[in-house]
Amino acid sequence: MKLTVACIAGDGIGPEIVAEARLVLDTVLEKYGHTIEYKDILMGGCSIDRYGVPLTDETIETAKSADAVLMGSIGGNTTTSPWYKLPPNLRPEAGLLGIRKALGLYANLRPAYLFDELSDSCPLAAKNGQKRKFDLIIVRELTGGLYFGERHTEEKDGVLTAVDTAVYNENEIRRIAKTAFDIAMKRRKKVSSVDKANVLDTSRLWRKVVAEVARDYPEVELENVLVDNCAMQLVKDPEQFDVVLCGNMFGDILSDEASMITGSIGMLASASLNATNFGLYEPSHGSAPDIAGKNIANPIATILSAAMMLRYSFDLQREADAVENAVRKTLSQGFRTQDLMPEDADEALKCTLLTCTGMGEKIAENIE
Ligand code: IPM
Ligand code: MG
Repeated sequence: MKLTVACIAGDGIGPEIVAEARLVLDTVLEKYGHTIEYKDILMGGCSIDRYGVPLTDETIETAKSADAVLMGSIGGNTTTSPWYKLPPNLRPEAGLLGIRKALGLYANLRPAYLFDELSDSCPLAAKNGQKRKFDLIIVRELTGGLYFGERHTEEKDGVLTAVDTAVYNENEIRRIAKTAFDIAMKRRKKVSSVDKANVLDTSRLWRKVVAEVARDYPEVELENVLVDNCAMQLVKDPEQFDVVLCGNMFGDILSDEASMITGSIGMLASASLNATNFGLYEPSHGSAPDIAGKNIANPIATILSAAMMLRYSFDLQREADAVENAVRKTLSQGFRTQDLMPEDADEALKCTLLTCTGMGEKIAENIE
């Protein structure tokens, strides 16, 4: 197979983690007899520096013409970076929201599972004397809701007022609900739909449409969970969840929470798909400007995102398994980036600290 992948290294640690994901991709694809060509494109802060805007038509066109998009992270320090002096629609994040919309990537999949090897890094206490063990996937609606509604700030009688609007129509809810139920059919057949139906109209419509979709999936158990309760359940008992279906903002927040219980935010991969499984693959974490350029970032979330790309956009299941197994093997050999080092001194002694490049190389070496 010959793959063409548009590549957005982005800002902050983005270029460092993408370099390692590419090394791993190159290694696995060569081993399995495929070729890959990358087309580098700019988006976010680096695009602002070059073109004055976070997203250009050319970037969108190149992304569309590729078979998939691999991305690192975008954005900078929101208090010190000059990018955040620009009007909101010209800031780095507007580029990310814009490319998701332009490519129709409404389905964001964020799997959060605890590697056995990292159970010591999980901040949750053991349950009934047992190590934690959970495996859930957040299905986040990505091109609607509060992040895409009309917004503005106005001054009335000397008082500043900001307005954001949350909008969902039934079609947007239906298609993401179907995604969630289809995924549940291939897993443990449970969907937990997250909303705030005790307050919000968008949530009441969400609940109604999700219930309608559920009728076509009689084997799947559906439960409705209020978002505040869901935040609590995630740190209390994440084992209860299989597929967690959320609107845009709730999914954004809950996926950061879910990533932390896997040991580090540096572990959570993501796929953003359109109706034809064209996808953009990026870690769920941000650009971590505080550690950029130091070669200490954890590239695993990006490497696992590349594995998702092989699985979802190219149907290369063996190759995706090979990458995931290599990550697992590397962790079981005790290799850790700094974010994954156990706090306990005795446990830490059993681990070997690696740089970002060191981790990428080890994982590439471990590909079978
Ligand atoms: C994410 C990020 C983005 C989002 C930001 C950078 C716009 O937090 O991918 O979770 O909110 O979607
Ligand atoms: Mg986020």
